[in-house]
Amino acid sequence: MALNSFKHYPLFTFLMFTLTEASSDVPIFLRENCTTIETFISNTTFQFNLITLLSSLSSNATGNTQFYNTTLSGKSSSDTVYGLFLCRGDVPPQLCQQCVLNAIQRLSNQSSDTCKFAKSAIIWYDECLVRYSNRYFFSTVDTRPRMRLRNTANVSDTKSFLRLLYTTLNETADEAANSSNGAKLYATKQAKISGFQTLYCMTQCTPDLSPQDCRRCLSGVIGDLSWCCPGSQGGRVLYPSCNFRYELYPFYRMDSPAPEGIISPTHSTMDKGEAGKKGISSEIATATFVSITVAGLSWVFGS
Ligand SMILES: *[C@@H]1O[C@H](CO)[C@@H](O)[C@H](O)[C@H]1NC(C)=O
Ligand SMILES: *[C@@H]1O[C@H](CO)[C@@H](O)[C@H](O)[C@H]1NC(C)=O
Ligand SMILES: *[C@@H]1O[C@H](CO)[C@@H](O)[C@H](O)[C@H]1NC(C)=O
Ligand SMILES: *[C@@H]1O[C@H](CO)[C@@H](O)[C@H](O)[C@H]1NC(C)=O
Ligand SMILES: *[C@@H]1O[C@H](CO)[C@@H](O)[C@H](O)[C@H]1NC(C)=O
Ligand SMILES: *[C@@H]1O[C@H](CO)[C@@H](O)[C@H](O)[C@H]1NC(C)=O
Ligand SMILES: *[C@@H]1O[C@H](CO)[C@@H](O)[C@H](O)[C@H]1NC(C)=O
Ligand SMILES: *[C@@H]1O[C@H](CO)[C@@H](O)[C@H](O)[C@H]1NC(C)=O
Repeated sequence: MALNSFKHYPLFTFLMFTLTEASSDVPIFLRENCTTIETFISNTTFQFNLITLLSSLSSNATGNTQFYNTTLSGKSSSDTVYGLFLCRGDVPPQLCQQCVLNAIQRLSNQSSDTCKFAKSAIIWYDECLVRYSNRYFFSTVDTRPRMRLRNTANVSDTKSFLRLLYTTLNETADEAANSSNGAKLYATKQAKISGFQTLYCMTQCTPDLSPQDCRRCLSGVIGDLSWCCPGSQGGRVLYPSCNFRYELYPFYRMDSPAPEGIISPTHSTMDKGEAGKKGISSEIATATFVSITVAGLSWVFGS
């Protein structure tokens, strides 16, 4: 763009640029972990079943479907494949679909080295996760593989911050586990740190877990806070079955409408004044999220 067009509307142009960038909602890849201890052979029934399973997952990522699990049974149990996808509770349908499609494209890519011929795999995006295995894993609390991500900025008063963080994460976990109206096990919560700082927390389980198992899983991830990001201004731990994230900025969508035909989950517990803020303020929140995600995080993985 020519410089003199900025001259007339500098702030406006900057804002438009920022908002356009923010609303271009591209799924953000985080990590994949493929079990290559057990591998399958090309052109076998297992591979055929896996391909069919992945395509059935992607074809079911339509409408308002945020979670879907399926099984491809073979003649022999060694040919059976289980799979699921889960979108983050606040992700709108179209972005959810795109995320699942991207994940499946990546998992299906047999020219990539990491997941080649893996009998089990999990892939995490910011917006969704996709998982398959030759082992039955539905309704099971799985805590491995796990990954952590931390915001490289630190808090100054670690002790009082940690107290508030644990309390708020625990409350968010209680609420996510209790929100099982046949809908998503997902909750967010905010807590005031000071007059000008707010803590934002989010927890989620795969909805095939019982409330008790969801809470147990969340106790596990929250227990990994000291492994993940002690003293950080933000961080997350992701298990296959559940995860948490916290930041000092609003990283989740606060005005997500309850999808039609699904019993409204308690997806947000902010006070009504915050919930009412829509439009530009949430767009700017997204913009902050995107830039900080790209610039401010260090990727750390563990087993
Ligand atoms: C698998 O089948 C395809 C098409 O039938 C063939 O081109 C390919 O060589 C086979 N690969 C192996 C490893 O057998
Ligand atoms: C969803 O997947 C199932 C197999 O699990 C398949 O039979 C069905 O056609 C898929 N639904 C859609 C809408 O594609
Ligand atoms: C989906 O998971 C549930 C357990 O939560 C299980 O009972 C059901 O059989 C699974 N569905 C398919 C199609 O595998
Ligand atoms: C598949 O993986 C290869 C090697 O990593 C990469 O070059 C290619 O772009 C990937 N294809 C798709 C469709 O993602
Ligand atoms: C994948 O997960 C396994 C099991 O937790 C772990 O041992 C391994 O280090 C992980 N691999 C990567 C590349 O993160
Ligand atoms: C935050 O703290 C960690 C460990 O306590 C330290 O390694 C890191 O350099 C700190 N980051 C900043 C930006 O000060
Ligand atoms: C949060 O819950 C864990 C167990 O899940 C417990 O050990 C811890 O004391 C709780 N912390 C607070 C501040 O409630
Ligand atoms: C659900 O909420 C109630 C209080 O409203 C609490 O006593 C209970 O422990 C919660 N259940 C779970 C599984 O967190």
